[in-house]
Amino acid sequence: MGSHEDRDDETAPCRFSDTTLRVNGKPHTLSVDHRRVLLDVLREDLDLWGAKKGCDHGQCGACTVLVDGRRLNSCLLLAVALDGCEVTTVEGLAGDGEELHPLQRAFLDRDAFQCGYCTPGQICSALGAVAEAAAGHPSHVTDPAVPSGEPVRLDRAEIRERLSGNLCRCGAYPRIVEAVEDVIR
Ligand code: FES
Ligand code: FES
Repeated sequence: MGSHEDRDDETAPCRFSDTTLRVNGKPHTLSVDHRRVLLDVLREDLDLWGAKKGCDHGQCGACTVLVDGRRLNSCLLLAVALDGCEVTTVEGLAGDGEELHPLQRAFLDRDAFQCGYCTPGQICSALGAVAEAAAGHPSHVTDPAVPSGEPVRLDRAEIRERLSGNLCRCGAYPRIVEAVEDVIR
């Protein structure tokens, strides 16, 4: 006697897929619910708590990580769509022997945080922004006279603009800009 339950089981779409993410240099293959976002997989499945959940709507940048070298808001990324991608979180930035990445060191030296909640996202975002400028990607404040594709020099206005998607409720912005300046000098 076929029940609704039986038919539902037979026709229900598969909601899980094996997905391999390479996170901070290590491969992880997980059975991922198609509805889950990268931020939750990083935090809840891989115990990487660096990326933070601020707004969960792509508006604050607290969850910023690098995916194949590009900075992205992990709260908006379906993990299943990232099969085979290289993900870098703030935990992956320190070198061997726990030597801090220069940007992490600069944030400490410049006292560029208060509560620290936004800091992992700020640091990942700054790394992405520096790479984007070096690759010649213009921002809203880039001088139109800069030849297309030429590296863009990151002055204060450029740093502010390029990090404007990363909010800091403590208002540590001036020190954050100084920390980024220290690293690109
Ligand atoms: S938590 Fe992702 S942008 Fe705010
Ligand atoms: S240091 Fe507290 S939110 Fe930025």
